[in-house]
Amino acid sequence: MAKVDVLLGLQWGDEGKGKIVDVLAPKYDVVARFQGGPNAGHTLEFDGKKHVLHQIPSGIFRDKTKNIIGNGVVLDPIVLKKEIDGVHEKFGLDLRHNLFISKKAQLIIPTHRLLDQAYETAKGENKIGSTLKGIGPTYQDKIGRQGLRVGDILSPNFKDKFNHLTSIHFSILKDHTIQYNWEELSTQFFHAVEFIKQFNLIESEYFINQEIQNGSSVLAEGAQGSLLDIDFGSYPFVTSSNTVTAGACTGLGVAPKHIGEVYGIFKAYSTRVGSGPFPTELVNDEGERMRKEGNEFGSTTGRPRRCGWIDLPSLKYSIMINGVTQLLMMKADVLSIFPTIKICTHYQLENGTTTDALPYELVNEKITPVYTEMPGWQTDVKGISKSEMPEALQNYIVFLEKALNVPITIVSTGPDRTQTIYR
Ligand code: GDP
Ligand code: IMO
Ligand code: MG
Repeated sequence: MAKVDVLLGLQWGDEGKGKIVDVLAPKYDVVARFQGGPNAGHTLEFDGKKHVLHQIPSGIFRDKTKNIIGNGVVLDPIVLKKEIDGVHEKFGLDLRHNLFISKKAQLIIPTHRLLDQAYETAKGENKIGSTLKGIGPTYQDKIGRQGLRVGDILSPNFKDKFNHLTSIHFSILKDHTIQYNWEELSTQFFHAVEFIKQFNLIESEYFINQEIQNGSSVLAEGAQGSLLDIDFGSYPFVTSSNTVTAGACTGLGVAPKHIGEVYGIFKAYSTRVGSGPFPTELVNDEGERMRKEGNEFGSTTGRPRRCGWIDLPSLKYSIMINGVTQLLMMKADVLSIFPTIKICTHYQLENGTTTDALPYELVNEKITPVYTEMPGWQTDVKGISKSEMPEALQNYIVFLEKALNVPITIVSTGPDRTQTIYR
C-alpha cells in the first residue's frame, strides 16, 4: 500500500516549505494540508512569477495533483475566497476540480479574528506576536467543543449556529476595546461562505484513505514549524496546533502505519517572526545583513524576521520528535555574503553546564550558544548545479549531516523551482 510522506519545517516556520512542496508535487497524486490556517504564508516561484499561498495547498500549480485541506486545518472562508480569486486572475486556474475541503475543518469566523486581537492587546509586553488571523481562538473553540465546522455551512440552521457562537464571543469582547464594523464583517463572511459551497466539501478521511488503498502517493504539507508546535515548541510563544509529524495523522485521519518519508526542512541559518526565545539571534549588523540578503520579511504579515545562525540543539530536537528521514537545506545562497559561518553546537546554561538538549526553561533562562566556525563559500551559488558546489559549502553540508545524523538530500540555492540541487 502506498505511503503518506510528510514535509515539515524544523525551525520557527518560513523554511521554504511552499517552494519544496511545489518542486516535489509532480511526484505525488495528492498534496494535503493538515494543520494551521491563514497564519501560513507559503511562497512559490516559477516562470518569473512569485505567488504566496495561505490556505490552499502548494500542489495547486501542478495539473495532475489533487489538493486537500484536511480536518486539522482552521479555515477562513474570506481568506480562501481571496486566494481562489487570486490564482484565477493571475494564472487562469479553476480550482473546482482539484481542491477538496474537509467538512470537519474548523471555520474561522470574524469574531475569532477580533478575539485574537483582543487577547494579544491584553497580553501587553508578553504578546505572542500572533499573525492575528484568528488561529488561537478558533482552536480554542474546537477544543472547547463549541466551534463551527465547514460542513455546518450546508446545514439549514447555520445562521443560528453562527449567531449562537458570535453571542458567546461578543460577551467576551465587550470587556475589550476593539473597533470593528460588524455589518461589514458578517456580510463579507456570508458572501464567502456562499462562494465556497461551489467547491468539493468532502469527508477527507475517507477520501485520503481511499487514495492510499488505490496506491496513490500522498504528500502532507506542514505549516509553521516544529519549534512553534503547541506541545513541543517554545511555549507559550507558539501556534495553537501540532505542527509535527503526528499532526498529519490527526489532521488527515491517516494511521501512523501509513507514514513513509518524513522530509525535515530547514534554512542554512535561523529565522523567527513574532516574540519568543531565539538563542542564536543576531541583534547586530550581521543579523541585519542576513535579513537583507535573505529578504527575511514575513510572507503573511510583512514583519521583519529575526535572524541568526543555525542552531543544532533545536534541530536535533525537531528531528527526534518528527522522526525525520531526509533533510532539506534551504537558502544556502544567502550565506554567501559571510567569510565565516557560525554553527551553534551546544547551549551553555546559567549554571555553567553545557548541553545539546533543549532545556525546559527557554523563556526565563539566559541560554548562551556555543559556536563552532567554518569558512564561508563567498561566491554566488544561486542556481548552481551539483558539480559546481564550492568545497566550503560541501563541507558545511557534510558537517551538518554528521552532527544531525540524517542525510541532506536537497539543497536549495534560490527561490525559483529550478534552483534546487538533488544530492
Ligand atoms: P514557507 O512558509 O516555509 O513556505 O516559507 P516562506 O515562503 O514563508 O519563506 C521562504 C522565503 O524564502 C520565500 O520568500 C521563498 O521564495 C524564499 N526561498 C525559498 N528557498 C530559497 C532559497 O533557496 N534561496 C533564497 N534566496 N530564497 C528562498
Ligand atoms: P509558515 O507556514 C512563521 C508565528 C507568529 C507568532 C506565532 C503564533 O508560513 O511557516 P498565530 O498566528 O499562529 O497565533 O501566531 O507563530 N507564526 C509563524 N511564523 N511562519 C508561519 O507559518 C507562522 N505561523 C505562525 O509569528 O509568533
Ligand atoms: Mg511562511
